[in-house]
Amino acid sequence: MKKKIHFGWFTEYGPIGWDGPDAVEGDWRQPELYQKMAQICEKGMFDFALFADHLGITASFKGSIDNYVKYGLNGINHDSTLLATMVAAATKHMGVGTTVSTMLTPPYLLARQTASLDHLSKGRVAWNVVTTGNAAGFLNFGIDQLPDHDARYEQAEEYMELCFKLWGSWEPDSVIMDRKTGIFADPEKVHPIDFEGEYYKSRGPLNVLPSPQGRPTIIQAGSSQRGKDFAAKWADVVIVGAHYVDDMKAYYDDMKERVIKFGRKPEQLKVFFIIKPVLGQTEEQVNQKLEALKHPPESLIHAALSALSSRMSFDLSKFNIDEPLPAIDEKEIQGGQTTLSRFYTSGRCPTLREVAIQEAAGNKGSIAGTPEQVADQLQHIMESVGGDGFVLRVDTHDHSYMQEFVDTVVPILQERDLMRKEYTGNTLRENVMEF
Ligand SMILES: Cc1cc2nc3c(=O)[nH]c(=O)nc-3n(C[C@H](O)[C@H](O)[C@H](O)COP(=O)(O)O)c2cc1C
Repeated sequence: MKKKIHFGWFTEYGPIGWDGPDAVEGDWRQPELYQKMAQICEKGMFDFALFADHLGITASFKGSIDNYVKYGLNGINHDSTLLATMVAAATKHMGVGTTVSTMLTPPYLLARQTASLDHLSKGRVAWNVVTTGNAAGFLNFGIDQLPDHDARYEQAEEYMELCFKLWGSWEPDSVIMDRKTGIFADPEKVHPIDFEGEYYKSRGPLNVLPSPQGRPTIIQAGSSQRGKDFAAKWADVVIVGAHYVDDMKAYYDDMKERVIKFGRKPEQLKVFFIIKPVLGQTEEQVNQKLEALKHPPESLIHAALSALSSRMSFDLSKFNIDEPLPAIDEKEIQGGQTTLSRFYTSGRCPTLREVAIQEAAGNKGSIAGTPEQVADQLQHIMESVGGDGFVLRVDTHDHSYMQEFVDTVVPILQERDLMRKEYTGNTLRENVMEF
């Protein structure tokens, strides 16, 4: 039997793409653009919509927030959990993912909000666990020094332990709600957790009833050595930006081995690669789109470098844009440590401008074609890599792209028995773990 492919949609509650060539009329601050897009994805049998989030406007590029404000870049974000609630209300089957920082959110609050949203969405919530790799968020919370990359992951380990205890503090059959006897729940089955760790302390139990999934589906995006171990231990889904098949295969094999190291089964962690294929109904259309992506305006190149600097928490403005990036000591990179190295795998040596052009294209260039050709390439990647799925990074304004993908690529994959034709699970985790 062929292994089916999972799909997700990834964007953020922010202005990104507000001036793109395919942007539809609409206000990104309002819920409708996201709800409509999520409904398109649900028609395409996607597993989830995931919303990124950041807690401050960064000054990673040239030490200033100016570029980020000027171009409306990531960092300008509204709250992803509130958006996830609105999107859950407009969908029935697809999961809704929110991004919440372990470093800047009290664990009890996180456990409570995600459990509540799991009830409200009837078992469809996912939590994208981030440790916040950028100083901006910390400065807004009164913390002057960005804590070290690996130390943040260490602290997050304890955070997860505590949250899992809170989510497990009511036994599944503890709630009785019997009108005849007037008994609401069995106190024998509801347990304080009396957690006391190095960083956190909490009495518990959670004051939210056991939710349909028991705990949210856990998503993570670590790609450093430390980040990969964290994902292998805790996550149900790991998302990663990889550009080339060899790179994807190496990441996939590495993750599945790490999962075993933590006493789990390889299939308990699904790997999703972030892509945005260039799609056209004819080869001529595809070539036109590819050509346009090769020559972005200078402002987009600057925006892309600013975005990369933000993601790495490392100022790229000091390098010569027309030369390949020199080797950087990983310890200097406090954000995503592999953000740039993946452009340089297998002996590839692009200039920083070429990297920025690829970034401005939204990693779109490596998969391109007519619906049939894109389906072929997606199938080829999954067969070469071993699984599990893709996350389409599509701005919320770009409904026409998602509609075209769902109307023309999805049916081909379904016809080949490579995508689900209906949702079979009752919860997000059941759907994610279905194949
Ligand atoms: C696809 C992707 C999405 C991410 N989304 C967010 C986000 O919304 N908010 C955030 O603070 N960090 C985000 N991150 C950062 C990661 O969670 C992680 O902290 C960062 O990559 C550093 O860890 P690493 O060095 O292990 O990769 C994202 C990373 C990736 C690759």
